[in-house]
Amino acid sequence: MNADTVLIVGGDSTLGRALASRLSSLGARVITTTRRAKGSRETRLLLDLASESDETLPDCSRAFLCAGITSQRACEEQPGLARRVNVEGTVRIAERLVERGSFVVFPSTNLVFSGDRPFARTDATLCPRTEYGRLKTDAEARISALGPLVAVVRLSKLLTPDFALFDGWYKRLAQGQSIEAFRDMRVAPVTLATAASTLATIGRQRISAVSHLSGDQDVSYYDVAQRLASRMTVPAGLVKGVTTSEVTQPARAIPRHTTLDCSRLVEELGMSVPSTWSAIDAVIDSIARQERDD
Ligand SMILES: NC(=O)c1ccc[n+]([C@@H]2O[C@H](COP(=O)([O-])OP(=O)(O)OC[C@H]3O[C@@H](n4cnc5c(N)ncnc54)[C@H](OP(=O)(O)O)[C@@H]3O)[C@@H](O)[C@H]2O)c1
Repeated sequence: MNADTVLIVGGDSTLGRALASRLSSLGARVITTTRRAKGSRETRLLLDLASESDETLPDCSRAFLCAGITSQRACEEQPGLARRVNVEGTVRIAERLVERGSFVVFPSTNLVFSGDRPFARTDATLCPRTEYGRLKTDAEARISALGPLVAVVRLSKLLTPDFALFDGWYKRLAQGQSIEAFRDMRVAPVTLATAASTLATIGRQRISAVSHLSGDQDVSYYDVAQRLASRMTVPAGLVKGVTTSEVTQPARAIPRHTTLDCSRLVEELGMSVPSTWSAIDAVIDSIARQERDD
């Protein structure tokens, strides 16, 4: 086995792409999987989690399971397919990797919790309120049962540098148009870069069992939109606060809290809990830069 070969299952995912770039820059040989036939090659293997065929998996020291049906709506609308992909297919690959001695990192979500309490601890009772959260909970349990060669990392919302919601808001506000933002939906996001570097470290140091990564506080989308307006020096009145009762998602499924207790990573990796506002500001800066350059 090449000691520094890393497998990313779901190389086309947002997180998988960020991880691949991070790990390559750290000198690892990165092999990814894709379900898109076009462009497959030696370091880009075809793998569809919905199929039960025995795919050839490469020897690797560690693997990150980033593929899956991540849309909450898709999980609600096609629960059978979502279970086949997010639980059965994902667990099958994890089993085969662990059997061969690879360390497996499984990114999970704060949505395994009800969100009734802030800063959920790693050992808090799981109580998912969405189909996506239930599938993640089931996959977590079965992957955790594989032993010490697995890490489950629960992540809050990840913000890409061009996060579409904020980018859309930016464009409207820049044109003097109003925007609507939820007052009662809250996030404690981390940047994609923070998530990728933390996962890379967890894989390299083989930090097994469950870890948490979230921002240090929950803020509402309305607060974020207000911050954006203020940073753009446009009138605050352009931001209209609305409530989630107008959306199709059942209100009970919207968590009041999304923060996670990150003390394990603070203690074991010496990192500090990422600041929610720093993550949001980094995205606003990136979108503003992009708009200026266009
Ligand atoms: N993004 C977040 O805010 C967030 C937060 C917490 C946890 N997570 C977790 O982090 C992981 C990565 O999330 P992400 O947002 O980066 O995902 P993403 O961008 O939505 O990508 C999901 C990937 O899964 C692939 N996929 C879907 N069905 C598949 C199948 N049957 N077989 C193989 N691949 C399949 C998709 O392939 P195509 O590209 O071909 O469609 C896509 O590349 C997920 O486990 C997610 O639950 C994400």
